[in-house]
Amino acid sequence: MQTSSTGSVGAPALLAARSLAVKVRDAAEAFARRFRCAPSWLACAPGRINVIGEHVDYCDGLVMPMAIDRHVIMAASPITEPVIKIFSEVNCEDAAVPLERTIERGQPAWSNYLRGVIHGYRERGETLRGLQLLIDTDLPIGGGLSSSAALEVATATILDLANQRQTPQVEKALLCQRAEHDFAGVPCGIMDQFASVFGRENNLLLIDCRSHEVTPVPLHDHSVTFLVINTNIRHNLGSSEYPLRRAQCEEAAQLLGIASLRNATPTQLDEKSGDWPEAIKKRARHVIGEIARTRRAADLVQGGDWHGVGELMYASHDSLRDDFEVSCSELDLVVRIAGEIGLDGGVFGCRMTGGGFGGCCIAVVDARRAEAVAATLGGRYQGETGIVPTMFVSRPAAGATPLELPLLPPKS
Ligand code: GLA
Repeated sequence: MQTSSTGSVGAPALLAARSLAVKVRDAAEAFARRFRCAPSWLACAPGRINVIGEHVDYCDGLVMPMAIDRHVIMAASPITEPVIKIFSEVNCEDAAVPLERTIERGQPAWSNYLRGVIHGYRERGETLRGLQLLIDTDLPIGGGLSSSAALEVATATILDLANQRQTPQVEKALLCQRAEHDFAGVPCGIMDQFASVFGRENNLLLIDCRSHEVTPVPLHDHSVTFLVINTNIRHNLGSSEYPLRRAQCEEAAQLLGIASLRNATPTQLDEKSGDWPEAIKKRARHVIGEIARTRRAADLVQGGDWHGVGELMYASHDSLRDDFEVSCSELDLVVRIAGEIGLDGGVFGCRMTGGGFGGCCIAVVDARRAEAVAATLGGRYQGETGIVPTMFVSRPAAGATPLELPLLPPKS
């Protein structure tokens, strides 16, 4: 059982959000405790959920994520030595990145996200100053909400700030993606880093992963919100299956004789895939269908047709489960329960979000009924699995930004 924000014990409850101002104050105080001085710079980068357009970013497809109001926060001040000294408040662990040598992968593992970004700046010919830097976060680590992209983008944002640079947004996101490829060994697409950089309050982001164009999709209707349901499990499979899916998509494009699946049509697939391995055919079918669903969902969001968006989300989940094979029983269970609560209970749609094999589902819900939906959904999930899910709601939030020094009074 989990204690709700009001202190009562019962069904799993929604986690209360801390305001950004409170998170910044807490990070600044943690910095002062650790380094015995006030930070000179503060920056934050949000995590993301993907509303629709899953496993298509590395196929040049269309995705529609949004930034959430869960962040990585960084605080820093200058030091004279040519080194970036890092303390992670979350892991209670130190790391140091010497600036006079080539930047390489190292320990602890989480430091590689920062190392990769620092390396990217050095590759651009930037001379970086020495820093002491603290990391804090309220994003669940490894929960599929892009905590790693947020860590990379926060690093880039604070390096820009401390070194008086203003890296153009697309370059910044691509530099962070490269850090993930080369220093974390994950051949990810561009969605997570773009969402963290370009997030905009009250807007979903329609991202064209081929042209890198980001189109905000306004969502000013506050009667709907996004419920994030973390299954709190992660299957190890994810790390080996992700590169495999990417390779299978590339193979499908090659068999079709095109640069990427972005250009493929269902007819083309039907005509040419007769003798393909079943898995390759299924992967391509998912990607082609998912890009079409994303395009359609963007139109429906603009028209306020949440019922229609919800149907597309369920279809997206089915396709990820059956054709792309990246779901798992816990994610499927959440989606099934959400469907059973249904429109009458305040749920428009639900699907897994992110890479899959565990992590989170998102549901679009009637904002007034979010708590009731969470109680029912969380309670039934816990009842069937014995796992307490973590749940919170978020509206679309702003992207990475430098922050003002805390305006709030210190905690007494
Ligand atoms: C992970 C990757 C993204 C994207 C999603 C699946 O989050 O980092 O680039 O491929 O999986 O949509």
